[in-house]
Amino acid sequence: MKIAYADPPYIGCAHLYRDRPDYAGEVDHAALIARLERDYDGWILHAAATPRSIAVLAPLVEPTGARWMAWVKGFAAFKRNVPVAWAWEPVIVKPARKPVVSKRLVLRDWLQESITLRRGLTGAKPEAVCHWCFEMVAARAEDTLDDLFPGTGAVTAAWHSWQRKFTLPEDPFPALPPLDGARRGRSRPGGPS
Ligand SMILES: C[S@@+](CC[C@H](N)C(=O)[O-])C[C@H]1O[C@@H](n2cnc3c(N)ncnc32)[C@H](O)[C@@H]1O
Repeated sequence: MKIAYADPPYIGCAHLYRDRPDYAGEVDHAALIARLERDYDGWILHAAATPRSIAVLAPLVEPTGARWMAWVKGFAAFKRNVPVAWAWEPVIVKPARKPVVSKRLVLRDWLQESITLRRGLTGAKPEAVCHWCFEMVAARAEDTLDDLFPGTGAVTAAWHSWQRKFTLPEDPFPALPPLDGARRGRSRPGGPS
């Protein structure tokens, strides 16, 4: 399956990235959602919780059947002149397949995780947020993930660390050649004969 991770400049916030080489003004979210629907089996779209962001996105998202989820930030960018901090963000998710019901863990449509510090880019995503998104989009390790707005590359790095969770523990004795008849017949020095 093909999955897209879209973490664009949020609606009304493109100016925050005007010094970046990939800056191209405000992102056309209608075109972006059309692309996500056209080219991908499942997708994730980060957004802001501002009234304008929600008003623009809601009619675009509704026909896709994607679901609104929440990233709640224990620690956010608290500012002196903002009396009520912006401490959660919508995350809109269209699963690539039906998520598996498991007795191991009940999946939730929200996550509490603090923002990352010192990554040098506004909006860089913490690994735990990305891992939660991969679960929400019902990804599998063999899927392909396109990070459409890479920024620091944190999403792709998180994809690789998430994929590694599915590898089995290594053979504890990888250097030993496989046992065969000849080896089995040989006694080890100092061992019982
Ligand atoms: C929210 S950041 C992505 C952060 C990234 N997910 C991370 O964890 O580091 C948005 C990125 O889109 C880039 N960008 C800005 N304007 C853009 C535009 N109009 N089209 C495409 N990319 C743009 C920014 O430079 C920035 O790297």
